[in-house]
Amino acid sequence: MIRKLTLTAIATLGLMAGGAQASGTTAHVEDFQFSFEGPFGSYDQNQLQRGLKIFTEVCSACHGMKYLPFRSLGDETGPGLPEDQVRAYAANFEVTDAVTGEDRPATPADKFPANTGAGAPDLSLMAKGRAGFHGPIGLGINQIVKGMGGPEYIASLLSGYHETPECAPEGFPGYYNAVFAAGGFPEECKDEHGNHTVPGSWIGMTPPLSGEDVEFDDGHSNELHHEVQDVAAFLMWAAEPKMMQRKTAGLTGVIFLTVLAVLLYLTNKRIWAPVKYGRKDD
Ligand code: HEC
Repeated sequence: MIRKLTLTAIATLGLMAGGAQASGTTAHVEDFQFSFEGPFGSYDQNQLQRGLKIFTEVCSACHGMKYLPFRSLGDETGPGLPEDQVRAYAANFEVTDAVTGEDRPATPADKFPANTGAGAPDLSLMAKGRAGFHGPIGLGINQIVKGMGGPEYIASLLSGYHETPECAPEGFPGYYNAVFAAGGFPEECKDEHGNHTVPGSWIGMTPPLSGEDVEFDDGHSNELHHEVQDVAAFLMWAAEPKMMQRKTAGLTGVIFLTVLAVLLYLTNKRIWAPVKYGRKDD
């Protein structure tokens, strides 16, 4: 029974991997190094503040973030904005009051508004939603093996725009992106077996960043390569604001269990000593 189950599991995995490959997603997702990786990693507060600025000035024109409350921006393990800045930031957004039904400036207790006008998906949970890349149909193997997940996908996607390949017919809708895997794909760019001849596909989002899109007060680099990492780190925090607390709790658990294991081992030895060595020690 177990063997049969194992065989079925292997066959299924094989089929799924084959399926993902047949769609031609040989897209290259870069393995960026983020400060929050590893068991001791933590968010870089300055980076989150830069990411927030990019989100505010660029992404929020089309994307909403409806699960993130403004007050989280004040979290010590998050962007850590002082209270008055959180309040001032929230007041830039309009929300519909749940009680009066009237529009009013947002307060820290409100969440970022939804934004569906441009047909763009909500970004609150995107970094977790895309953890198993490539794109939405990946298996997430890279996340387990290489520690690469949603932020790597987002940063690569934002820098994945390239010139439209020659095979594409004139006027094919969307923008060519070598990392995006879920969009439309012209027949002309498939070989006789239906395999894609170029990585990625066509995405409905105009290239949002091209470098030097925002200015940072501290003069930090606004090259494209840095901007994409900053906004990806910010989106990871938005999707997982309690990551640091979770890691601390996990570490405490491991230390506790290690001490407990040593004590249990010594207790066990002591209890069974009379039986094993035939002597009484009390
Ligand atoms: C002009 C409007 C617009 C702006 C500005 C914009 N986006 Fe988008 N974005 C879209 C649309 C539309 C889609 C859906 C594209 C599709 O599915 O083809 C999208 C999709 C996405 C996706 C999902 C890709 C996937 O795998 O499904 C991510 C991630 C994303 N955007 C991030 C960003 C970030 C980060 C910024 C800011 C730097 C940004 N976007 C700015 C319109 C925009």
